[in-house]
Amino acid sequence: MSPREGPIPALPLSLGGAIPVLGLGTWPMVGAGCYDAVRYALEVGYRHIDTATTYDNEAEIGRAIHDSGIARDELFITTKLHPKHAGRERQVISDSLRQLRTDHVDLWLIHCPPGGDESVPLWQRFLEVREAGLATAVGVSNYSTPEIDELIEATGVAPAVNQIPWTPRQYDEARLAEARARGVVVEGYSPFRGSDLADPVLTEIALAHRVATTQVILRWHVQRDTVVIPKSADPDRIASNFEIWDFTLDGDELARIDALALRP
Ligand SMILES: NC(=O)c1ccc[n+]([C@@H]2O[C@H](COP(=O)([O-])OP(=O)(O)OC[C@H]3O[C@@H](n4cnc5c(N)ncnc54)[C@H](OP(=O)(O)O)[C@@H]3O)[C@@H](O)[C@H]2O)c1
Repeated sequence: MSPREGPIPALPLSLGGAIPVLGLGTWPMVGAGCYDAVRYALEVGYRHIDTATTYDNEAEIGRAIHDSGIARDELFITTKLHPKHAGRERQVISDSLRQLRTDHVDLWLIHCPPGGDESVPLWQRFLEVREAGLATAVGVSNYSTPEIDELIEATGVAPAVNQIPWTPRQYDEARLAEARARGVVVEGYSPFRGSDLADPVLTEIALAHRVATTQVILRWHVQRDTVVIPKSADPDRIASNFEIWDFTLDGDELARIDALALRP
């Protein structure tokens, strides 16, 4: 693999810090397999790790980060609170920080919208945790634009990030524009599970650049200014998913990938 020169490109976050455009997803890795994957990812150059309390792997990630010897300020760590733990935010973030062996996370997300009237109070408590310095930025996951608007209307503060399923098939220019207009970075999950890796358009573009279709998908995310967090437990695939810096999709290729979006 050609080593990446310089830092990974990052998008500034409205609530502070900047999120590297490519990170390692860690669900559903646990135990030694998770530790090994994170250690290897850090070795090949990843600096952004995505986890959640419900993944049950924060302790392994904390240990892998600690053992890597990489300075904390070079890393971007995301974890999430599941709304079933609403009301126990301080305890949950304290547990996450202890297991991750850090005094703050770079991004703390509400894992999915809580039901009923809990959304705004939960967001207010997230903002308090941020003000206490335990998370540099806070955001949401699996929220619709109206659900984000409810938070903005009540508090005047938009989530820095919305982590949602995002692939060429799910591409939605209007939704992306809505997020941008509110200062919300879109972070896409399940880039491969939600894609047809044998799609002829992706395959043709991959062939033209002598890369894998998976790399085309990741490159498309990055060039469309969406963050992407592929998961792999396999060293070769962890490395391959990080090798997306030496080719560029042209405007026509990007448009052909956008056009794979499934229309409702
Ligand atoms: N916020 C949420 O609600 C939410 C929901 C789902 C996921 N996430 C986050 O997003 C991350 C990624 O999503 P995901 O795990 O659902 O799906 P994904 O990253 O799209 O796909 C992972 C699958 O693709 C395989 N894979 C990885 N690299 C590959 C490559 N280069 N070629 C072929 N296959 C490859 C992996 O197998 P191997 O491991 O064997 O390589 C695994 O089976 C998760 O790990 C998690 O951190 C968040």
